[in-house]
Amino acid sequence: MNDNVRAVSGVVVVLGTGGTIAGVSDTGHDRDYQAAQLGVDQLVAAVPSLAGQPLEAYQVAQVDSKDMGWPVWRALLIALDEALARPDVAGVVVTHGTDTLEETAWLLHLLLPPGKPVVLTAAMRPATSSEADGPRNLADAVRVVRWAAAAEEDAVLAVLNGRVWAGTEVRKAHSWHIDAFDGGGVPPLALVEGDQVLPTPDAVWAEPRGQLSAALIGLEALPRVEIITSHADADGSLVEALLAASNREGAKPLRGIVVACTGHGTWHQDLEAALLKARRAGVVVWRASRVARGGIESQPGETWPVAGRLTPAQARVALTVTLALRDTA
Ligand code: SIN
Repeated sequence: MNDNVRAVSGVVVVLGTGGTIAGVSDTGHDRDYQAAQLGVDQLVAAVPSLAGQPLEAYQVAQVDSKDMGWPVWRALLIALDEALARPDVAGVVVTHGTDTLEETAWLLHLLLPPGKPVVLTAAMRPATSSEADGPRNLADAVRVVRWAAAAEEDAVLAVLNGRVWAGTEVRKAHSWHIDAFDGGGVPPLALVEGDQVLPTPDAVWAEPRGQLSAALIGLEALPRVEIITSHADADGSLVEALLAASNREGAKPLRGIVVACTGHGTWHQDLEAALLKARRAGVVVWRASRVARGGIESQPGETWPVAGRLTPAQARVALTVTLALRDTA
């Protein structure tokens, strides 16, 4: 990555999906507000430095991202696919809620075709806050799209609080602090200081992404994958309940389980029998770690797949997308 900030003159498309960045408080309190109230055009209009830039803003959804799911993801993928295919577009910013940003980032990383940067941004304070972080984050995200496009980087990125994260690593690490995101131990790819984007030396950029198929976009739902957690006193009853529910007539079949494991991929011994039963029933079981740093490295001879550094929530996205790609291949 060249560390000069090089402007590219293409259009930056800003796709709005809701979140606290579009939140409004009637009481003036930063923790008492409704997410997803302002339109994305209002968010853009509130940032003086974006005036006069070649920008187009489109509202794809208006949700609190705790309620994220396939209908919004599908609409977002369609809008992204259209925007990224335009020769006049340099890249896309997606405004999002912070709560499931890491899941959407993984979905986009897995499915979007390579070629142009996609930058997610969000905010921890509603737009009406005297300490609103959304305007700066949005301005930074547009700057990072132009910077990445000039360098021909096409990764999915996230820009929050002056730091540029790989979409594959970013995760919410604090429930209320304005500096809420980290990379699970992996440093940011770059910092944004004023109008400068300063790359981190030796930063590792994610590999180019996949190919969005019409068959996948045509799905009414993604395959059902659930997360269960191993903890003190855990037993197989939740897994048994999932299997029983899955066998009921008309139920959406259970296709995968991500276990949020203790430590480096272990689970309570009393979970094992139920997980073996699930696997015999054709359910794919992946291990992710419930620990904040380090993930799980695969060891030779292991029979339960591991999700590397992915959080359980990211691993759930990766597994459901893997199954969906298999189904639609
Ligand atoms: C959301 O995730 O939509 C609400 C919370 C936030 O954006 O910080």
